[in-house]
Amino acid sequence: MSCNKIYVTTPIYYVNDVAHIGHAYTTIIADTIARYSRLIGYDTFFLTGTDEHGQKIAESAATRGKTPKEYADEISGKFKSLWDDFNISYDKFIRTTDDYHITGVKQAFDKMLKNGDIYKGEYEGYYCVSCETFFTKTQLIDDEFCPDCGKATRLIKEESYFFKLSNYQDKLLKFYEDNPNFILPKSRRNEVLRFVEGGLRDLSITRTSFEWGVRLPEHLEDSNHVMYVWLDALLNYVTALGYGGSEENMEFTDKKIHIVGKDILRFHAIYWPAFLMSLDLKMPKHIAAHGWWTRNGEKMSKSKGNVVNPKEVADAYGLENFRYFMLREVPFGQDGDFSQRALIDRINSDLSNDLGNLLNRVIGMSGKYFEFKINSDEVEKFHSKELRELEEIIDSLEPYLYDMQTHRYLEELWKALSLANHSITTYEPWVKMKESKKDEAMALVALVANILARVSIMLNAIMPKTTQTITDALGFEINSDSFIKYIKEKNLLNEFNIKKVPPLFPKIEEARLESPEPKIEAKPKKEEKKQTSEPKDDLKIDGIIKIDEFFKVSLKIGRVIHAEEVPKSKKLLKLQVDLGEERPRQILAGIKEYYKADDLINTQVCVVANLKPAKLMGMLSEGMVLASNDDEGLSLIRPEKTKKVGTAIK
Ligand code: ME8
Ligand code: MG
Repeated sequence: MSCNKIYVTTPIYYVNDVAHIGHAYTTIIADTIARYSRLIGYDTFFLTGTDEHGQKIAESAATRGKTPKEYADEISGKFKSLWDDFNISYDKFIRTTDDYHITGVKQAFDKMLKNGDIYKGEYEGYYCVSCETFFTKTQLIDDEFCPDCGKATRLIKEESYFFKLSNYQDKLLKFYEDNPNFILPKSRRNEVLRFVEGGLRDLSITRTSFEWGVRLPEHLEDSNHVMYVWLDALLNYVTALGYGGSEENMEFTDKKIHIVGKDILRFHAIYWPAFLMSLDLKMPKHIAAHGWWTRNGEKMSKSKGNVVNPKEVADAYGLENFRYFMLREVPFGQDGDFSQRALIDRINSDLSNDLGNLLNRVIGMSGKYFEFKINSDEVEKFHSKELRELEEIIDSLEPYLYDMQTHRYLEELWKALSLANHSITTYEPWVKMKESKKDEAMALVALVANILARVSIMLNAIMPKTTQTITDALGFEINSDSFIKYIKEKNLLNEFNIKKVPPLFPKIEEARLESPEPKIEAKPKKEEKKQTSEPKDDLKIDGIIKIDEFFKVSLKIGRVIHAEEVPKSKKLLKLQVDLGEERPRQILAGIKEYYKADDLINTQVCVVANLKPAKLMGMLSEGMVLASNDDEGLSLIRPEKTKKVGTAIK
């Protein structure tokens, strides 16, 4: 057994409001890394939890007429039960209101003080409560608004202790240089470097204008100060291991992989390493910062209220399908707009077609030809080429996962499924059976069963229950031993007693949620409304429709293959438009005043393709071309680059 260790963390989430799919995303990535690490035999510690102190929480609680602790208990409990519902395999759930954490934070403060990294002074500057971040005037937008979230900041002036962050500028730059993979994806590294090179100001680490936070160590006799919530929060990653107390898991401290969203990269890549240096503790291995889930291009956020509820999505589409979708759909580090359409496509095509059908085929063929009993005796003889190809695919996978390239990991893994599906088409076992080449047919079915077996081992961390069903059908178990046997040592499963299981991924015909933003949690808006500076909040949209109503419209790219004037009509041109169907569509378009028929031939247009045909001047029109008309006249809407005719417009 290897003694490799790994420590995976999510951010501890603020308890100002319940989780949305952004939080689920981070947690699912971390869960995947943790599960995979356990599978390959690493001693794994997976931490998540809640961040409960600070002004933001105090104010959220106050607007609900609750004490901060009451409110924190309630929301922290909701996070925890969501993760339990989601089968998140955390080893510890930390709350920053836990006693051991508070003790550890005070101890850390004392240590920094002893090391000469903390001094007392006065802070004057701007503060964004929503981001719990200090800003200088020059950093603000229009001298007022937070550059990160856009909300109004507050000018504060108060006595404060400072951490000598400026002392760490050179040490941090050296650290980044020595550890080029510290920040993932690497494309985010420069942003941090530039920020540090631009000069680091000392950081205010205590506040005096409210009370909801960790008090300073008693001997300082400064009972009106509480710790800055980010100092308190970041320390959770070591207090959870026993720092300042039992120290029971401190051996994980240099194995840290912190998975965060890009909104909090700066805190993790700059402040946190500086704090660790000051405390003489080991550095994390990676800070991995993913992008944002957005709604209409805007970051989904609890304080904006434009959120999608992860539980509703999981209930409607299946938890593991949702996990697969999140990890597959968006390249780690990039933003992605959440859409049910994209989720449904992934389920129907990747999961149902590629994976589910393959299992059905193995069950079907093994039953029909071999009474559900197959062996791998002749796989090597007939399929050594496919086996080598499979090994190559599987061997390439692991680095993608630890580089957080989960979409690449899955993309590569799916090549093994293509290989299997392709082999069936190529070798046609039903023909072999007719030709009485039973051994060849068996070899093929066994090859495919072995591919499925390996794929399910490698997919286990992402879809634990689904892969369990696959292995039930194939008759083996996924664990560290089978990982070694079938993945590392590349053994074949010798014998299969195939069992029938219900279809894994029934096709989904239509959107199951009313809208991608099902329930916007009712929240007291008064205070927050005042702070918000987003013009979008005031946007009034007329005749609002739900997204699934929009999806009912089929828009397609077409090519005009013929166009002529409609005699006696001032406005109409008669077009024949190729939509990649059996015959072109006839479309009457009111564009004669702006376009000459001949000029349109061979150009592309956007067509509403599922409009009920109508008669105009006695002629049938089987669609509509999109155009836009302002005081400069009318122009057709066309794709920016030529597209294949019939391509859907989304
Ligand atoms: O920042 N898309 O907590 P938080 C993707 N307490 N991920 C998102 C997201 C989105 N739209 N919105 C949030 C805090 N997240 C601090 C952390 S850690 C010592 C303290 C995820 O509740 C993402 O991981 O605001 C982001 O970094 C985190 O939730 C912020 O959660
Ligand atoms: Mg946030």
